[in-house]
Amino acid sequence: MPRSRSPRQRVVDSVVNKRIAAPTAAAIARAAHLLRDGLLVAFPTETVYGLGADAANPDAVRGIFAAKGRPADHPVIVHLGDAMQLAHWARAVPDAAMNLAAAFWPGPLTLILPRASHVADIVTGGQDSVGLRVPSHPVARELIAAFGGGIAAPSANRFGRISPTTAQHVDDDLGNSVALILDGGSCPIGIESTIVAFSDDRPVLLRPGGVGVSALSRVLGRPLDEPDASAPRASGTLAAHYAPRTPASLLAPDMLRAEITQLDERDEIVAVLARTLARPADFTGVWLPASLDASQYAHDLYANLRTLDAANADVILIERVPDDDAWLAVRDRLSRAARGVDDDRD
Ligand code: TXA
Ligand code: MG
Repeated sequence: MPRSRSPRQRVVDSVVNKRIAAPTAAAIARAAHLLRDGLLVAFPTETVYGLGADAANPDAVRGIFAAKGRPADHPVIVHLGDAMQLAHWARAVPDAAMNLAAAFWPGPLTLILPRASHVADIVTGGQDSVGLRVPSHPVARELIAAFGGGIAAPSANRFGRISPTTAQHVDDDLGNSVALILDGGSCPIGIESTIVAFSDDRPVLLRPGGVGVSALSRVLGRPLDEPDASAPRASGTLAAHYAPRTPASLLAPDMLRAEITQLDERDEIVAVLARTLARPADFTGVWLPASLDASQYAHDLYANLRTLDAANADVILIERVPDDDAWLAVRDRLSRAARGVDDDRD
């Protein structure tokens, strides 16, 4: 199954669609210029595509919320070139946060830290904290370097929809609202960054993601806490999120087999994201076999959910994934995708 367009197809597309550009030096310079002008630029990161704006320009950041249809009290992550810039954006950095930054940046980790006084309310959602991350994707790094400041960027999807892992996904969702989409092919990790906050200097896991919890605990020398009422709010962690439009259910393999048989008998159109289960010979719906490997599964997940959603089936059935830590972030996204539509999503 094609996960990303070939280089040749990307060139053809960029001629047809002026918004999507191959990440040449000229396109990156243009993107930096557009950001300085207060416009929105979508760019690839190692996790998902981000919808970027100048983090120091509140009007530009407001444009992100308008484009996504996202309520203004949802904070956005500021993307930086390196950990040295932490001191500009955060007024205090606990030692534990420094250790995580040293171990995992550049990479798929977001740290929630007390904000410096100049950080705009529209960036922090009016909270006293700011989300900071140094991405590792070369195009994101080149863009941040060319721009020379922090880039505020949520995932480049409409509020509540599936996060984009290709330039085409961004164009499908946000089209006219972005000045430029830098095309870096499909995102290598495919699900969002891990978010860690610090409450009284205790590390708290707000969202599992690209960096695994066991790797984090190794560096911290202790397990992460679960968020409690005092932890900063992260709306992307609420129950329903990352959802396809088609109702989706998560089922163990045996239940999945039984459900398929039942629905088939009722002539319902079924779209299946399988993992260990083989396609029944008489199955007539859409069947996607997903990887047995957690990283590959994560890489393909959002593109697979989009494909299943586009099938216009009556229902999407997803085979459960293993219970171990390697699958934590995938389990998190699947359980949110399977809860259906809610109005509180990033
Ligand atoms: O991998 C990622 O993190 C991607 C790429 C583009 O960097 N970004 C991303 O952003 O997933 P977004 O906005 O879709 O999700 C960020 C989550 C949201 O749930 C937001 O509420 C939370 O991070 N967040 C951001 N700043 C925060 C803060 N100051 N306090 C608590 N949560 C925060
Ligand atoms: Mg998001």
